[in-house]
Amino acid sequence: MQSKFIKMKLLKILEFPDPRLRTKAKPVEKVTDVHKELIDDMIHTMYESKGIGLAATQVDFHERILVIDISEERDDPQVFINPEVEILNKDEKSGYEEGCLSLPGHFAEIERPATCHLDYVDYNGKKKAFKAEGLLATCIQHEVDHLNGVLFIDYLSKLKKDMIIKNVCVQRNIFL
Ligand code: NI
Repeated sequence: MQSKFIKMKLLKILEFPDPRLRTKAKPVEKVTDVHKELIDDMIHTMYESKGIGLAATQVDFHERILVIDISEERDDPQVFINPEVEILNKDEKSGYEEGCLSLPGHFAEIERPATCHLDYVDYNGKKKAFKAEGLLATCIQHEVDHLNGVLFIDYLSKLKKDMIIKNVCVQRNIFL
């Protein structure tokens, strides 16, 4: 029997400052086989890239889909379609050193609400909800930001953001 894994494609991840990363993704109207194939490829791409989350925006597909795996063993992929985040307590924050597959090699401490409630549709098209905390809450907020065209560097001071942008440009030999 041929494993599903063999068919999976490694997707190209858009890197900052690609303007397509600023696209606001549209809701998924119905989960089809096209979406499922994309999700399988996104999970494969996330593992191959050693990331803990990937948004469809990052692979130039502009519908609201995320994949996340924060497990140590890298064997617990979670799929969130049309995620709707509700912040339960704006005052309770937690900080994590964030990175992003679209900004390889760059990291910064970002403070975000420590917990959030999430409504979403799963891989099989079923509506679900749960409360996230810790790293998962941060990761969900980071990935949902991608679907809205927002990157983690947008939360930094102008000075810090400019420093990262300058480094990216030097690294990639581009001039903005
Ligand atoms: Ni990211």
